[in-house]
Amino acid sequence: MTETDITRLTIRRPDDWHLHLRDGAMLRAVLPETTRHFGRAIIMPNLVPPVVSGAQAVAYRDRILAALPAGANFTPLMTLYLTEETDPTDVRRAHADGIATAVKLYPAGATTNSASGVRDFDKVRPVLEVMAEIGMPLCVHGEVTDSAIDIFDREAVFIDKVLKPLRKKVPDLKIVMEHVTTQNAVDYVRDSHKNLAATITTHHLIINRNHILAGGIKPHYYCLPVAKREAHRIALVQAAISGDKRFFLGTDSAPHTDPAKLQPCGCAGIFTAPNTMSCLTEVFEVAGKLKKLEAFASLNGPQFYGLPPNDATITLEKGAPVTYPATIPTDDGPLTVFDPGFDLHWRVVD
Ligand code: DOR
Ligand code: ZN
Repeated sequence: MTETDITRLTIRRPDDWHLHLRDGAMLRAVLPETTRHFGRAIIMPNLVPPVVSGAQAVAYRDRILAALPAGANFTPLMTLYLTEETDPTDVRRAHADGIATAVKLYPAGATTNSASGVRDFDKVRPVLEVMAEIGMPLCVHGEVTDSAIDIFDREAVFIDKVLKPLRKKVPDLKIVMEHVTTQNAVDYVRDSHKNLAATITTHHLIINRNHILAGGIKPHYYCLPVAKREAHRIALVQAAISGDKRFFLGTDSAPHTDPAKLQPCGCAGIFTAPNTMSCLTEVFEVAGKLKKLEAFASLNGPQFYGLPPNDATITLEKGAPVTYPATIPTDDGPLTVFDPGFDLHWRVVD
């Protein structure tokens, strides 16, 4: 069967290796959108206040578990928000007790709720050394925050100025460069032989910076790292469809209500949880690489994290355009779902 004949595809149940679930009413509104299709997700800790300690991660995990829809088969994999005060002993214990899967590094000021992030990387060195010793991955928001650096260059500069020196100092640390947006990041990951992987979001495989800025400003396409020019998007697609084990899905689905996004200074984040699998399948089909979808969405991530892939499967079927809500209601107003700008034909049927 050639690619063009494929109208039904069964893959291992996917995982989302980078997800924002928030808390309270928003958590209850968005959680079913992920648990419908995904087996596990790495849960971002950038709440207000952030999830810093093992005890806070347990409490947040309990709130997520309490919000699960009936019958859901979903495991939240918790992360700890790295600060300059993080206690290496707490990190070691949270990992040993199966509470925290990874630690999240936000350079201070890089994005939503990152004020408690890291300014001086030497201050967190003892934590990173413990993580290297116990094999606990560091998830990195890879952008410098220096206002003198052009926002479109912040990822590339981060690689040179922060990531390369950090990896020299702690070479045994497993690092996930999250939501990569540039050819530079793809090349850097490809050139490394050990302990480095990258997640790619659904939206960065589909939009470039024109989607945000051409023909009127489109806040619903604004996220961080901001989408770059088309050549970079193509590099991301090439990485995702390659089957290379170092690239896997992290949607970075990041819900903000319309009132929070449609502002003179609106929030960064794109909410892709409801239609991610339909969007991704379309991207892989257009590239003629449907058979690589499973590696990207379901196999490469668990392998990097040292976990087995999910036993369950999902089946996608091609047909008439999929309908999905343009917005989801929340107590604080509507939440706009990512619009890929083209019809989606693949639906999860099982
Ligand atoms: O667009 C983004 N939204 N990027 C991030 O890094 C954070 C996220 C959020 O929490 O809203
Ligand atoms: Zn994120």
